Amino acid sequence: MRLCFQLNGRPVEIECEAADTLAELLRNHLNLTGTKVSCEVQVCGACTVLVGGLPVSSCTLLAYEVRDKNVVTIEGLAQPDGTLHPIQQAFIDDFAFQCGFCTPGMILAAKALLDENPKPSEDDVIHYMDGNICRCTGYVPIVRAIQKAAETLKESKK
Ligand code: FES
Ligand code: FES
Repeated sequence: MRLCFQLNGRPVEIECEAADTLAELLRNHLNLTGTKVSCEVQVCGACTVLVGGLPVSSCTLLAYEVRDKNVVTIEGLAQPDGTLHPIQQAFIDDFAFQCGFCTPGMILAAKALLDENPKPSEDDVIHYMDGNICRCTGYVPIVRAIQKAAETLKESKK
């Protein structure tokens, strides 16, 4: 079937199979391999992308369900000149990843959180991010990075 949607701010028109998941479409047909796939059963959050600004598990979302919608992947967060999004930069500055497999999904979930709640408490972050599993970091630096990114974003809006 023919599928049209917005991907990282640009229109995409592509053929897909009815059974293709969004993760398969992104990784295998659009070469956007920043989206990771781990559990494939909507448990770990590694495959998180934003659809209409909300975090979704792309491993279980059928690709055709994003027709006419806005999809953002990790490849869409940096500025065109390569400047990283404040959340990406905070993850680097605060050592909020080790293997990095969970990181794209973490960052996109964090973006959805900060879009909805620009000044989250530690508990807010922990609660919002509980669908994103990390096997390496122990979560403390992730929570810290998200709160620091919130501060940076607040400053940038002054
Ligand atoms: S790979 Fe999609 S939630 Fe784990
Ligand atoms: S940094 Fe390795 S799973 Fe999170």
